[in-house]
Amino acid sequence: MEQSVVLVKPDGLQRGLIGEIISRFERKGLKLVAIKMVNLDDEVLDQWYGHHKEKPFFPKLKGFMMQTPIIAMVWEGLDSIDTIRKLVGVTKGREAEGGSVRGDFAMSMSNNLIHASDSPESASKEKGLLFTDEEVFEYVSALDMLVYSEEERE
Ligand code: CMP
Repeated sequence: MEQSVVLVKPDGLQRGLIGEIISRFERKGLKLVAIKMVNLDDEVLDQWYGHHKEKPFFPKLKGFMMQTPIIAMVWEGLDSIDTIRKLVGVTKGREAEGGSVRGDFAMSMSNNLIHASDSPESASKEKGLLFTDEEVFEYVSALDMLVYSEEERE
């Protein structure tokens, strides 16, 4: 099934929202296949946010992402990239729909608590930047029987 890379950003860690975020993803029926706490460095951030390199907010974005360690995760599920982006909400917290993570907990454009992959290509790149193959686990989720129909599991 499709994988998506999710980060709890430094503001999410400082505000004590790691458990809340993980809990929402678990309750949705997504499957956690990798998780760790890590300090992002210049080199990783230059690649991670390569598409924002020329933007005026880029230096501040990098500084923000290095304020504290972040929580990096890989979540798996059917159409997980689109599904997770709905759970996360739009970039600007104060415009994000109620019920989403940002809609419920964020006000800012930059301090928006969480990152989620926006395409399969980004997910693959982001996973490669933060995880070794051994850190991404394969296992049978007992919940999948209940979460998906038989056809969806094929
Ligand atoms: P995200 O979508 O996870 O990845 C890119 C990040 O850049 C985005 O979240 C915001 O945190 C930040 N960002 C995007 N646009 C702006 C902006 N105009 N000003 C400040 N930060 C921004």
